[in-house]
Amino acid sequence: MTKLGIIGAMQVEVETLVSQLENKTVSQKAGSSFYEGTLVGLPVVVVQCGVGKVNAALCVQILCDCFEVTHIVNTGVAGSLCADLDIGDLVVSQDAMYHDFDCHVINENYSVGQVPGMDVVAFPADDALVGYAFAAGELENPGHTKIGRVASGDQFVCQKSQKEQIVRITGALCTEMEGAGIAQTAYRNNVPYVIIRAISDKADDSAEMDYPTFETIAAHRCAKVTSSLARQLKEALDVN
Ligand code: ADE
Repeated sequence: MTKLGIIGAMQVEVETLVSQLENKTVSQKAGSSFYEGTLVGLPVVVVQCGVGKVNAALCVQILCDCFEVTHIVNTGVAGSLCADLDIGDLVVSQDAMYHDFDCHVINENYSVGQVPGMDVVAFPADDALVGYAFAAGELENPGHTKIGRVASGDQFVCQKSQKEQIVRITGALCTEMEGAGIAQTAYRNNVPYVIIRAISDKADDSAEMDYPTFETIAAHRCAKVTSSLARQLKEALDVN
């Protein structure tokens, strides 16, 4: 049975989804509330994981082990790394990688971002979920959704120099603090995933001002797109 795990770091990123659940039940694990129910008729589990890669990874493992989700979507806000991506625009992950993982000093074959022992530097998202997410983004905000790389690290990026370095290392469209942790955990569990992010700031010196102003509107927009993705997944399942 298809069951979609929906994960966001902060309350503002998941609250509208939790409020839309039907037949809702809640259980606590590792300090997070896992809300089970149906969203637009699709079985889902929604969790607010907390900020950062470790919080994100451990909640994905719980979604896999305890709730047996078959697909994972990460919803939330991000800082733009690309001049064409403005506040409110959407990014759908082609793949995700770390910008703050660096072992190249001990082995020059490791590139910055690469996790030793993993066979990929960037963890690929699921093509079908990417397609649904892009279509959902286009419905919400036509012409303002891009598919590309997401760069993650345990840093709120708010300096031009920091932003430029992340672009150099990763070539990503946006930066945030959970996506690659979710992607790596999904990859290791062989569970298809996608990240959807709405831009809340430009990840430069304007970010400190913009983030609090646009966080809620961007987070709620992304949640709406996530709900629309769930609808598309449900419709595809009903056809097949
Ligand atoms: N999430 C939203 N904006 C961000 C930024 N500038 N850096 C890291 N995470 C973010």
